[in-house]
Amino acid sequence: MFIYLNGRLVPEEKARVSVFDHGFLYGDGIYETMRAYCGVVFMIDEHIRRLFRSGELIKLKIVRPPDEIKRAIYNTLSKNRLKDAYIRLSISRGPGEIGLDPGLCPKPTIVIITKRFKEYPEEIYKKGVRVSIVKTRRNAPEALNPKIKSLNFLNNILAKIEAKEAGVYEAVMLNYRGYLAEGTITNIFFVKDGSLFTPSVEAGILDGITRKLIMKVAKGNGVKVEEGLYTPESLYGADEAFITNTTLEILPVTKVDNKTIGNGIPGPITGELHKGYKEEVERYLRTGKI
Ligand code: PDD
Repeated sequence: MFIYLNGRLVPEEKARVSVFDHGFLYGDGIYETMRAYCGVVFMIDEHIRRLFRSGELIKLKIVRPPDEIKRAIYNTLSKNRLKDAYIRLSISRGPGEIGLDPGLCPKPTIVIITKRFKEYPEEIYKKGVRVSIVKTRRNAPEALNPKIKSLNFLNNILAKIEAKEAGVYEAVMLNYRGYLAEGTITNIFFVKDGSLFTPSVEAGILDGITRKLIMKVAKGNGVKVEEGLYTPESLYGADEAFITNTTLEILPVTKVDNKTIGNGIPGPITGELHKGYKEEVERYLRTGKI
């Protein structure tokens, strides 16, 4: 595989960054994960927009314009002959003397890694997965705003470790006030009495691109959507639940801790929304629009 590294496509064995890179030393940087279907990077403009927003929030100036970044993504895919792909674009503060001052790093490091997309096991979509509400709380927005898609992932990694120890697929983090926030790499939704609920951005989450599209699909299907602050009990008592992200799309959740959700099988609204999401992907492939 070839890796895009600061404007060049290099074989992966030669794609090296400095040990002085502040991405390595301090987790100082940002990233995006994208998915390509049949050679088309789904909602690429939304991902690039969020990348620039993350850059602004950490005062990292992305010197290359959005169009150039878009071209770099497509060139990397085409060099690797990939059509259905996972794409990881990272921008770190770059190499510089040891010290926290971003001014020590004159040039950010831009890396694009692409891989053949490996489908998730069909079984997890058919049966749903178990999640656990973990002890690790999501960063408070006043400490490290979850809106920043940051390379500094320890908050989520600590939650992931708890999920692994509990033997569940994903961890659900509460915010510092004890309300539902999000998963380690996913947003969470639940259904109650036919309406769809998801923690609002104010709960302290990353406003997922998949999340936004799911809400649009739901509204289009006549499903009432509410964003707000929800307690763990509201999730335990849900009729259906699911998690979302760019690569998973919609993954049904059938158990939260020891509470079975609904009948313990993926629910009808979850199925309907996933179908609607797939139709949006199809439309995007045809028209380049949502
Ligand atoms: N993660 N919340 C967090 C903390 C995330 O890291 C992600 C995405 C999401 C969902 O966002 P989106 O729908 O835009 O993918 C929510 C990606 C997939 C990752 O870390 O690789």
